[in-house]
Amino acid sequence: MKRIITLKTRITVLVGIIIILIAISLTGISISSANYYFLKNNMDREIIENENSDYINREKFIESVNKENNIGNIDVRIKAVEAQKNFSIQSIIVMIGIIIAGISGTYIMVGKALKPLSQLSDTVHNINDQNLNKRIDVKDSKDEISSLAKSFNSMLERLEKSFANQKRFSANAAHELKTPLTTIKASLEVLKIDDMPSVEDYKENADIVEESTNRLIKIVDDLLKLTSSELVDFNDEIHLKNLFKEISSELSFRIESKGITIDLDIQENNIHGNKTLLYRAFFNIIENSIKYGKRNGYINISSMLDKDKIIINVKDNGIGISQDDREHIFEPFFRSDKSHSQQIKGSGLGLSIVKTIIDKHDGKLSVNSEINKGTEFKVIFNRRKILDLEDFKLK
Ligand SMILES: Nc1ncnc2c1ncn2[C@@H]1O[C@H](COP(=O)(O)OP(=O)(O)OP(=O)(O)O)[C@@H](O)[C@H]1O
Ligand SMILES: [Mg+2]
Repeated sequence: MKRIITLKTRITVLVGIIIILIAISLTGISISSANYYFLKNNMDREIIENENSDYINREKFIESVNKENNIGNIDVRIKAVEAQKNFSIQSIIVMIGIIIAGISGTYIMVGKALKPLSQLSDTVHNINDQNLNKRIDVKDSKDEISSLAKSFNSMLERLEKSFANQKRFSANAAHELKTPLTTIKASLEVLKIDDMPSVEDYKENADIVEESTNRLIKIVDDLLKLTSSELVDFNDEIHLKNLFKEISSELSFRIESKGITIDLDIQENNIHGNKTLLYRAFFNIIENSIKYGKRNGYINISSMLDKDKIIINVKDNGIGISQDDREHIFEPFFRSDKSHSQQIKGSGLGLSIVKTIIDKHDGKLSVNSEINKGTEFKVIFNRRKILDLEDFKLK
């Protein structure tokens, strides 16, 4: 059954019952002790009992008692009895007054105390996925309702972050899926355009389609793992030189068509991590160097060991990034005005994916750049974590 009695009414009723019980008991105790002190003997009781009979009878009764007992101070006794009666009536009136005042006071105070709770409930009621950035006004007190509001605000913060993560994931996923899908589409179109494709053409394009499909499956798999709290396998052994060679060969068409020279200065280092993710991270950085690089420019990729660190640099002599923009380039969808004005295509997701992947590998990503001179991305991995397979544990 649905509760229709409000908390305010329930508390008031409960406190009201307690007040009534206490008031009745106290009044009862004081009336009976007054009885004890006021009414000296049975005669006084008879006076009280006879009060209920009519006035004439009462007068007669007093006369007869006076004659029989010859008690001179009967008037004093009667006054005492009347005072006791007045005291009882007054006590009952005061008791009723206390009960009414107590119950109304409780009702008003409970109402005031619960007001923030009803405000909280209104705010909670109005929050949906569109306005998760809303927060409840927390008063500067340390009571339970303030602490409830604080807990609720921190829950909202966590929810907001988690929603933002989900949104970013969808956007990242779409971006990452686009590249292999475009490759598949291009391969199919090549076959379509050719009137008489040979078996070799079919084979070549089928290989490309298969490779892209496998990449799609792996990316979806890894991205799902990346955003969830599930474990991602970081135990692939990656040969850095080969990794950069693979990336350069995938980008070879774009490198050549822009007349860019790639200079690889990689020490023979093997690292451990998730190969698909690291491939994607460095691919995105190098792709940017080509996109935002000068025609006939250069890209210098180097890696070196420094004590317990492995440092990887990707340097170009391209258009550069302003200081203001450098603070935002790792945010999803951020693109500098220069990229827009030069009509360089992109969605601004590449570097936010890089950052997520490097963070997952406990690495550090930084950028150094000067407008019209070039940009240098630096990735630093902790050598012990990334090199020492025996010490390397799944995250
Ligand atoms: N090497 C670089 N030289 C100059 N500007 C760069 C370089 N790398 C990144 N940027 C700037 O940082 C912005 C964000 O880069 P990011 O890779 O995230 O997105 P994008 O390249 O615009 O699009 P895409 O999602 O296709 O990668 C770019 O729009 C560009 O303005
Ligand atoms: Mg990019």
